[in-house]
Amino acid sequence: MVSKDMDQDIEKVVFTADQLQKKIAELGAQITADYKDAEEDIFCVGILKGAVLFYTDLVRQIKLPVNFDFMIASSYGNGTSTSGTVKILKDLDYDIEGKHLIVIEDIIDSGTTMHYLKRYFQERKPKTVRICSLLSKPSRRTVDVDIDYCGFEVPDEFLVGYGLDYAEKYRNLPYIGVLKPEVYAD
Ligand code: IMP
Ligand code: MG
Repeated sequence: MVSKDMDQDIEKVVFTADQLQKKIAELGAQITADYKDAEEDIFCVGILKGAVLFYTDLVRQIKLPVNFDFMIASSYGNGTSTSGTVKILKDLDYDIEGKHLIVIEDIIDSGTTMHYLKRYFQERKPKTVRICSLLSKPSRRTVDVDIDYCGFEVPDEFLVGYGLDYAEKYRNLPYIGVLKPEVYAD
């Protein structure tokens, strides 16, 4: 059962709030340096819901004008394993043709979602598309995805917190951790 005190359900903390913020400041500085001479607007496309905390912290570290857009894409059911198909539940609001797109994702696991989305975006003819993911699980990859900005590579463990959920819970933890096995048991 999920406790009211979510910290009680965590077996170990993998990245503290401070570690996350430090990495996000580095990613923001790198993106700022890479796009400082760009003539076209930057569109940061956040993939809801998992990337929402990362998105809002990252855009504050990009010291350039940023246009916001969001998509909802889902390759997961309610559990911990992928279904392999990608559904777009909310599309882009803006025409991205000729723009610089930075796709902001929480985690790239099998790569299914991002592989699909990258092709989807490229059909809309942006000037450039880069991918920024807070986490990557390379050992789980079934399709190749180039990640232009990657926060941390992580081993094959199911993570929660800082946007990542288990059955829609734990997204609002300020850190990233691994759940105790008994939380999955019921
Ligand atoms: P992919 O299509 O297999 O790369 O899966 C990407 C999506 O799966 C992510 O955007 C997450 O929503 C979800 N996901 C993958 N690994 C984890 C995890 O460890 N915890 C929570 N969600 C995960
Ligand atoms: Mg996601």
